[in-house]
Amino acid sequence: MKDLVTVARALFASGKGILAADESVATADKRLAAHGIAIGGEMRRAEREIFLNAEGIEQYLSGAILFSETFAQKGSDGKLFPASLAARGIAPGIKVDQGTEPIAESPKEFITNGLIGLSERLLEFAKKGALFAKWRAVVRIDGDQLPSSRALLENAKRLATYAREAQAAGLVPVIEPEVLLDGMHSLLRSKVVLEEVLATVFVALEAQAVDRASVVLKTSMVLSGSETGKHDAPQEVARHTLEALVANVPKQIAGIAFLSGGQTPDQATENLAAIVATARAASTSWPVTFSYARALQEETLQIWRGEEANVAAARAVFLNRLKRLSAAVSM
Ligand code: 13P
Repeated sequence: MKDLVTVARALFASGKGILAADESVATADKRLAAHGIAIGGEMRRAEREIFLNAEGIEQYLSGAILFSETFAQKGSDGKLFPASLAARGIAPGIKVDQGTEPIAESPKEFITNGLIGLSERLLEFAKKGALFAKWRAVVRIDGDQLPSSRALLENAKRLATYAREAQAAGLVPVIEPEVLLDGMHSLLRSKVVLEEVLATVFVALEAQAVDRASVVLKTSMVLSGSETGKHDAPQEVARHTLEALVANVPKQIAGIAFLSGGQTPDQATENLAAIVATARAASTSWPVTFSYARALQEETLQIWRGEEANVAAARAVFLNRLKRLSAAVSM
């Protein structure tokens, strides 16, 4: 079994980040349909292939997170996607949560499912070549009312249980408590909530005796709610995000990977560059990188439109975005 700390650290190799390509079947179809592209298993496979088999991605990617369907699919070279990623030195990861559902007592909030049968699924994916796993929880802000402590505590408990089981199965746990961008909240409210979320999650990890050294935190940035129409300055985003992280994230974890959360690709790139520069200046103990889905895929899907003739141009746009993100984390 590979040493988990070594695997986790390798995800933060200089100038590299993680591609999140682990949308569930329903979400992947929704994204295709939003770009006027036909849906279904073969279209999803063709879409994944644009990203996963693009030439040269290994210069910029340390890992790629896949959904179970993609984990079992092949590229047109006949190779399973996880095997061809691994052959290029890109760690294959697997999303193991089973999505979210509204909480009965607080229907605007969500709880993440997937603990039933989890250890078997983790072992199965480890056997098939996964090196790391991901579990996503979502946290909604609504004025001073939400998030509720009930939602925070239950999601944190499940994240910690998953992290413990992932380590036991020989997989690096990526824990993703995402504070949603949706809403009218201020940047400062987003910071307070992120602090609360992180504090709750790390207490839960401690209670389950999760080894911090191989934990990767996947987090949102501190940003004003998307319905405010406010465009936060990258310096402000960086300062507040790092203050929240430094105060609440143990120094010993393997690293922090940011999600894009619905920011435009340019915003997600500029904010990441500012965060990395600020983190370097403050000599934070953990490395920082990107783990983007939408900010790495949107521009490419727009060009592709489901047409074979557009694949080369779509891949060029993807590589260009990867290059810019790589530059942002190499500074
Ligand atoms: P976004 O970068 O689109 O927020 O996605 C990251 C992710 O992995 C969501 O689970």
